[in-house]
Amino acid sequence: MPEPSKTEQRKAEHVNIILEENVSAEYNFWNDVRLVHNALPEIDLDDIDTSVKLLGKRLEAPLVISSMTGGFSMGREINANLARAAAEVGVAMGVGSQRAALEKPELEDTYAVVRDHDVPLRLANIGAPQLVPQAGKRAYGIADAKRAIDMVAADALIVHLNYLQEIVQPEGDRRGKGVLAAIKALASRFPVVAKETGAGISREVALGLKKAGVRAIDVGGLGGTSFSAVEYYRARKEAAGLKERLGATFWNWGIPTPASVVLASVGLPVIATGGVRSGLDVAKGIALGATAAGIAKPMLEAAKVSADAVVAELRAVVEELKAAMFLTGSSSIAELQERHAIVSRPTSDWIELGHEE
Ligand SMILES: Cc1cc2nc3c(=O)[nH]c(=O)nc-3n(C[C@H](O)[C@H](O)[C@H](O)COP(=O)(O)O)c2cc1C
Repeated sequence: MPEPSKTEQRKAEHVNIILEENVSAEYNFWNDVRLVHNALPEIDLDDIDTSVKLLGKRLEAPLVISSMTGGFSMGREINANLARAAAEVGVAMGVGSQRAALEKPELEDTYAVVRDHDVPLRLANIGAPQLVPQAGKRAYGIADAKRAIDMVAADALIVHLNYLQEIVQPEGDRRGKGVLAAIKALASRFPVVAKETGAGISREVALGLKKAGVRAIDVGGLGGTSFSAVEYYRARKEAAGLKERLGATFWNWGIPTPASVVLASVGLPVIATGGVRSGLDVAKGIALGATAAGIAKPMLEAAKVSADAVVAELRAVVEELKAAMFLTGSSSIAELQERHAIVSRPTSDWIELGHEE
C-alpha cells in the first residue's frame, strides 16, 4: 500500500474528529427562529407536496446532503451510502473537496462511486483557495474543474469558501487575492454554486458572487459543525500551540445561518446549511427565503452505519418538514416560502445590521 498523502490523512482525521469530539458551534441560531402556528390549516397532511426544483432538477424534498468526503478509503463507503440514500429519497448530494483525487487520480473512485446511484442532483466540489496560486502550488483552472465535474457526473460544481478553516489549520492556504475573478471564470463555463463551510455569506459577498455569475449560494453559516473546532482538536493532537489557540478563539466565528439566508437572498436560489438538525429547521430556512437546506454531520453519522440509516434519517427530516408545513397551512414549498418567521436576538440583530452593510 502506498503511503497516504497529507490530504488523505487530513480527511480521515476530519471525519474521525467530527464523529468523536464535540465540534458544534456553541449556539444553534435556528433556536432564534419561530414559525407562526395555524390552528386552522385547511389542508390535508397527505396532500402536502415537498418537492422543489433546484438548479433545474426536481427533488422530492428540499434537501441537500452537504459536501463532506472522499479521497480516502472510508470516504468511498460513506459516499456510496450517502448516494444510495439520496437516490432512494430523491434529494441532492454533494461530494467533499475533490482536491485529493485531482492530485492523486487513483483516489477518483472514492468520489466516482456516487455515479452508481441515480441521485437527482449531484454536486462536485473544489476549494476557492485552490483557484489562485498558493505557496508552492499551482492554481486549479477550467480543466481541473471539468475533471472534478466529470468524475462524479455532476450537474453543478460547488466552489467552497473556507478561509476560516485555512487560517486555523496548520497547513492552511493564505492567499485570497483574485478568488472572485477565478470563480467568475469558472461560472462562465459551468453551473457554479458558491458555498461557505461554516462562517456564512454576507449580503455584500452574495452580491459579488451573483455578479460573478454563480447560479446558487449555499450559505454554510455558523451554528452547526465548526471547522475551527475541528482544527482545534487536530492542532491539539499535534501540539501545534498557536493553531490550537486560533481554533479555540475562532470556534464561534461567523454569520449565523438563518441570518445569512436572509442576507444572501439576492435573487439566486439559496441553500440553508449549518446546524440544520431537523425538518423544522429546514422549514424555518425555507420560510426565511431558502429553496433548500443542507445537512452534513447528521448524515455522516448515519452513513457510518449504513445507507438504510441515512434513508431513515432523511425520511424523519421529511416527516418533520411535512408536519411544519401542515401546521403553517403550507401545501407546497412555494407556500412555505411565503410564511412569516419570527426572528429573535441575536439573529435578528445580524439581519438588521447586515442589511445596512
Ligand atoms: C466531515 C466533513 C467534511 C466536510 N468537508 C467539506 C468539503 O470538503 N467541502 C465543503 O464544501 N464542505 C465541507 N464540509 C462542510 C459541510 O458541507 C457543511 O457546510 C458544514 O458541515 C455545516 O453543516 P452541519 O452543521 O450540518 O454539519 C464538511 C463537513 C463535514 C462534517
